[in-house]
Amino acid sequence: MISIENLSKRFGQIRALSGVSLTVEKGEFFGLVGPNGAGKSTLMHILSGYLFPDQGKLELAGKTLKDTDKEGRRILGLVPQSIALYDKFSAMVNLEVFGSTYGIPPKELKEKIKFWLDKMQLWDRRKDKVKAFSGGMKRRLNLAASLLHDPEILLCDEPTVGVDPQSRNAIFDFLEEQNENGLTVVYSTHYMEEVERLCNRIAIIDAGKIIAMGSRNDLVAQLPYNTSIQFDIAKVDQALREQFLQFGTIEEDGKQGTLHPEKGFKLSEFFAVLESGNIPYNRFRIKQPSLEGLFLHLTGKQMRE
Ligand SMILES: Nc1ncnc2c1ncn2[C@@H]1O[C@H](COP(=O)(O)OP(=O)(O)OP(=O)(O)O)[C@@H](O)[C@H]1O
Ligand SMILES: [Mg+2]
Repeated sequence: MISIENLSKRFGQIRALSGVSLTVEKGEFFGLVGPNGAGKSTLMHILSGYLFPDQGKLELAGKTLKDTDKEGRRILGLVPQSIALYDKFSAMVNLEVFGSTYGIPPKELKEKIKFWLDKMQLWDRRKDKVKAFSGGMKRRLNLAASLLHDPEILLCDEPTVGVDPQSRNAIFDFLEEQNENGLTVVYSTHYMEEVERLCNRIAIIDAGKIIAMGSRNDLVAQLPYNTSIQFDIAKVDQALREQFLQFGTIEEDGKQGTLHPEKGFKLSEFFAVLESGNIPYNRFRIKQPSLEGLFLHLTGKQMRE
């Protein structure tokens, strides 16, 4: 559906994207996850034609697109990171304005507006001005606006920022339902747990580059360890730490120690050591491998400082 090859974009000295290549297949729920300034929005904007790349190739539905090709991009819908709505107009009028820019005939547009407002649980509020809407309601209305022209691919740029938990779940359920009905979704966020829940394939992006890509399981398999065990160094004496070395390596970071067991490690053997020394289990936190852990491993920094 989407194929990007070696895409780069600079803003003055800032390299917003450097040599990004990826493909998204029809029906995928594709995640783009990375910290602030990673280049997620730049990529979304290039896909949707709001920005032109300095170099690189973009194919949509098997067709190579020129930067200015609007018609070729009609199969895309974009839910932008910053909400794009007219505050002084009602929800209904907003959708009429967006719909008319796509040249949807009035009768058809009316039906579509009813359909999407219903879906977004905003039909009862259709006559209210957008300025009276909560962050979550605005986001849902923006989502409706991006779907009026029946796109095959939906680009969602951080659609849960500034949204209450209830709207957030409504957005997740809605996107999952649309994806099951065949909509291809590209979803950007800086929350690992969101891509873990929603996406079948994930690209981790940092400082304009894709640093890892694959299913969640493929990605965590890139970690050189599986389970890890954390503890406060002050509560685990030297002799015990030395005993742990039979299981793997210990990394010490300030007050915290982390045991990275070698392959074949059995938790039962670890617990046996604790039992024989009468050490309480609750001094240890067992961590499963995670995307956060992979990000830390690849970049040396936390996703969110
Ligand atoms: N119009 C612009 N002019 C100058 N620099 C820009 C512009 N747009 C983006 N940048 C810079 O390009 C880099 C990538 O920005 P981008 O908005 O794509 O990141 P992002 O991953 O969407 O971040 P966030 O999670 O904060 O939305 C950043 O360093 C940003 O400051
Ligand atoms: Mg952004």
